[in-house]
Amino acid sequence: MPKYRLRCIGCGAEYSGSARLYSCPACGDLLDVVYELDDEVFKIPWLRNFESRPLGVWRYRELLPVEDLRRVVSMNEGGTRLIRCRNLERELGIKEVYVKYEGDNPTGSFKDRGMTVGVTKAVEAGAEMTICASTGNTSSSLAAYSARAGLGCAVLVPSKKIALGKLSQALIHGAKVLAVRGNFDDCLRIVRELSRDPRFYLLNSINPFRLEGQKTAAYEIYEQLGGDIPDYLMIPIGNAGNIVAYWKGFRDLKSLGMVDELPRLMGVQAEGACPIYRAFVEGANEIKPIENVETIATAIRIGNPVNWKRALRAVKETGGLVEAVSDEEILAAQRILASREGIFAEPAGASPIALLIRAARRGLIEHDSRVVCIVTGHGLKDPDIVLKSSGNLIEVDAEIDSILRALEMRDDYAADNSH
Ligand SMILES: Cc1ncc(COP(=O)(O)O)c(C=O)c1O
Ligand SMILES: [Zn+2]
Repeated sequence: MPKYRLRCIGCGAEYSGSARLYSCPACGDLLDVVYELDDEVFKIPWLRNFESRPLGVWRYRELLPVEDLRRVVSMNEGGTRLIRCRNLERELGIKEVYVKYEGDNPTGSFKDRGMTVGVTKAVEAGAEMTICASTGNTSSSLAAYSARAGLGCAVLVPSKKIALGKLSQALIHGAKVLAVRGNFDDCLRIVRELSRDPRFYLLNSINPFRLEGQKTAAYEIYEQLGGDIPDYLMIPIGNAGNIVAYWKGFRDLKSLGMVDELPRLMGVQAEGACPIYRAFVEGANEIKPIENVETIATAIRIGNPVNWKRALRAVKETGGLVEAVSDEEILAAQRILASREGIFAEPAGASPIALLIRAARRGLIEHDSRVVCIVTGHGLKDPDIVLKSSGNLIEVDAEIDSILRALEMRDDYAADNSH
């Protein structure tokens, strides 16, 4: 397995890879995992040597920070579909549009990529109990992986602000679900405090190991495009861990000599929870946390994202941007993706499609572009939102006539039968 260390993203101090740290003891900033890769890894290992390994997170094990593969807690996560969207291409006038469908993961969101690595690290650390703050999907994923590892699990979620599907997942996997009277940022503050107690192993995206698992989606996209990268990558931003993970994955491909460029990273936030967007458009070097956040895309309802610093860097250094879209645009995008392409995304997962539509209409991207949209979570996570926005069901009597009338096809049917 690879040798690795933890390095502070602020002051650059380095720590042992086996240290149980969630932030830099010297300056308090976040930590990143850095590797000492041997020459073999630089020879495009997974394309040349690993053809027999299935697509998925552990295909890239030489670039993942675990001690012993036999202890890995996995449900074959990753290996998600990259789906060509020809109807959207035609309607928007963009040459190539793909969805990377992270709803294909074991618990229905991209979080599983991070949890397979993170919960493995919790096992290595001899933890008794995992803990996280969550807008929903992190809790579903952590609960499932902790159950599989035989660890206790406690999740803190904002009361009444998490989607039904996610809540039911956390409960059925046996997590202690605590509905906090406060928002996600309150939950995160509390679990960070609690994680000083060694009984708790913290698995929010400040845990540097989670992003290592999540970066593998960038490697997969490269492979699925036949050894190439998109021009643009559209991705939702909540706590901003995932965009940083993709950035890291694509930079790895560059330092491995497999690509010359990086995709432009195009982050999208909801208008009611967009501190990174505001900092981006103001050209500010820091974000201003937002106290009262609100959006139907509850997964990205976050006012004080911890990974903001690297997210801004990722966007600037790749020539990308951050946009904020309205709830109406998100719901429209969700419906368009489902009705034109057959792909069901939860609202946060549909936000990159909202950005794509806006970017295509405003000419922010060229017509001959190749775009990959990261659909981060399955639509069944949040069925309520669809039922609320879809109008009433049509109730009918159990007879042909009533059904044809409801379908507004009764007259033609009668005419056909009279011939
Ligand atoms: C479906 C979905 N999309 C996007 C995000 C945002 O990811 P991140 O917090 O890494 O920015 C989340 C986070 O909970 C999510 O559940
Ligand atoms: Zn530091």
